[in-house]
Amino acid sequence: MQHRSRKRILVTGGAGFLGSHLCERLLSEGNEVLCLDNFYTGSKDNLLSFIDHPYFEVIRHDICHPVQVEVDAIYNFACPASPIHYQFDPVQTTKTNVHGAINMLDLAKRLKVPIFQASTSEVYGDPQVHPQPESYWGNVNPIGFRSCYDEGKRCAETLFFDYRRQHGVQIKVARIFNTYGPRMDPNDGRVVSNLIVQALQNQPITIYGDGSQTRSFCYVDDLIEGVLRLMQSPDSLTGPINLGNPVEFQILELAQEILTLTGSKSELVFCPLPSDDPKQRKPDIAKARQELQWEPHVQLKQGLVSTIQYFDKILSTERAKISLV
Ligand SMILES: NC(=O)c1ccc[n+]([C@@H]2O[C@H](COP(=O)([O-])OP(=O)(O)OC[C@H]3O[C@@H](n4cnc5c(N)ncnc54)[C@H](O)[C@@H]3O)[C@@H](O)[C@H]2O)c1
Repeated sequence: MQHRSRKRILVTGGAGFLGSHLCERLLSEGNEVLCLDNFYTGSKDNLLSFIDHPYFEVIRHDICHPVQVEVDAIYNFACPASPIHYQFDPVQTTKTNVHGAINMLDLAKRLKVPIFQASTSEVYGDPQVHPQPESYWGNVNPIGFRSCYDEGKRCAETLFFDYRRQHGVQIKVARIFNTYGPRMDPNDGRVVSNLIVQALQNQPITIYGDGSQTRSFCYVDDLIEGVLRLMQSPDSLTGPINLGNPVEFQILELAQEILTLTGSKSELVFCPLPSDDPKQRKPDIAKARQELQWEPHVQLKQGLVSTIQYFDKILSTERAKISLV
């Protein structure tokens, strides 16, 4: 490979919510970024603010098929993350997680470069331990509607650790908990985007169950900082390591905060809980604090304000388009 001072970094799923923030941050730090995406849930809109950057490239490609590129590091973020999207084609979800992981690990093995895996808190399933430390093995239904994602991600973790043990690949595995921020898909049914979009449109706000189930929400900038710190950590730190915000909120509290910040007139409507929906999920981030000196800093209210601004902007652009028709 030609001598280069810049690192060339591959981000799979780079046109998605998290991947696009990662591409942007890597470019801002002086790297070349190669984004590989099949645009299943990602969008060029997420790339618009840096698509003309001279050190940014996009390849339309499905990671279920091998790819030959020359890079110095790999971040594997490709996989639909919202239940609506990953359940639409569950077989493809499992393939993306398993075949995709094998293809990216084979690439890392050939190039002898580090590879990061965007794993998930879903590997803990409906946890019986609270909060969840990395040592907890989880409580996952292997045959339910969420299994293509949960078990797919668990199998990907297995592959990462087997490639490390068997082939000496440098791996970094992060278990990401609920993250939110600008560039989330407004129609993907995730709780933060759902509630904000409903509030901005003064539509009824749907709360599943009685709203007492808790979630912890990490702002995207905090999450990306944790991802980079893990990738820059010594080779011996493989993870899995939890990245998320340990501050818990009830869904009902989140809805009320969003109503206040948007000044919405929406009413709350209560619906039955979807199957396999975990009642509680909160990361134990002691390991990230100790090993990466990382913890989230953005307060929920602060993160919600910039997320609401983003959704307000895209919804008003859509309204403007409709009024022109
Ligand atoms: N957002 C979260 O709260 C969260 C939490 C835990 C884990 N994660 C993980 O982080 C990653 C990114 O999540 P996100 O929220 O940005 O989701 P997203 O759906 O916005 O992004 C996923 C991206 O991967 C692309 N993709 C999907 N299948 C592909 C394939 N076979 N080949 C190439 N590209 C493909 C999509 O087009 C999209 O651009 C996922 O692996 C997800 O499991 C996210």
